[in-house]
Amino acid sequence: MGMTPRLGVNIDHVATLRQARGESYPSVVEAANVCLSNGADQITIHLREDRRHIQDTDVEAVRLVTKRYGKPLNLEIGCNQEIIDIAIATNPDWICLVPENRQERTTEGGLNLLDEKVFEKVKSTCETLKDKLPETLISLFLESDLSVLEKASQIKCDAVEIHTGDFARAHLNGEDYERYLSDYKKAQDFLESKKIGCHAGHGLTLESVKPLLEMKLFVEYNIGHWIICQAVFDGLGKVVSDLNQLFEGNQL
Ligand code: PXP
Repeated sequence: MGMTPRLGVNIDHVATLRQARGESYPSVVEAANVCLSNGADQITIHLREDRRHIQDTDVEAVRLVTKRYGKPLNLEIGCNQEIIDIAIATNPDWICLVPENRQERTTEGGLNLLDEKVFEKVKSTCETLKDKLPETLISLFLESDLSVLEKASQIKCDAVEIHTGDFARAHLNGEDYERYLSDYKKAQDFLESKKIGCHAGHGLTLESVKPLLEMKLFVEYNIGHWIICQAVFDGLGKVVSDLNQLFEGNQL
């Protein structure tokens, strides 16, 4: 029997809902609990410099939940000193380095390691993290481009998370996506030859993850936005029905 690929659930958008109202709910701790008690292999959160969803206290709280379940916490961060210091204090199982800019709606692509300045910054951040957190594994969020992956192999990292956003959008729009699959296969072969783990993330849904699973391309998938969106419709009927029952039991 083979190994089951790992499902990392990104719960950032539970915090997005909470921040939209400035209330204490929905709780990311409860979200982490529900995900882990229903088969998630890992919780992923992104502490952004602008704190638009996950807050510093969430990182601590979610860490406690993942520890209780003996499952990994994957903390996504940009190469920003303040955030790196929080990551070091948190000591997560995984750190995923991602590019970050304030204007973007979400992470828009992988780290551009072909840019010498970006390469040096990522390389030195990985060295600092490996020095301060010898137990923590590091992944780099990258495009599947082989010249980028070649640069990654010159950096001390344990895995690469391939940005699957463009593939996922093509799949969603019913466009041809075969070229992404062949790129991912090449990326997988290259990373395997360098003993670097091959993860995937961004934009994936129940449907678009299927061809990736069938081709056994990745050992780990981090999925967030679609899961939280689908959870709305898997739960909305029940919530309205519960309220309706209460109303029915309280005739005027
Ligand atoms: N992986 C990384 C590195 C990300 O930045 C994100 C989005 O924060 C995800 C995975 C999850 O993407 P999505 O929310 O589109 O499923």
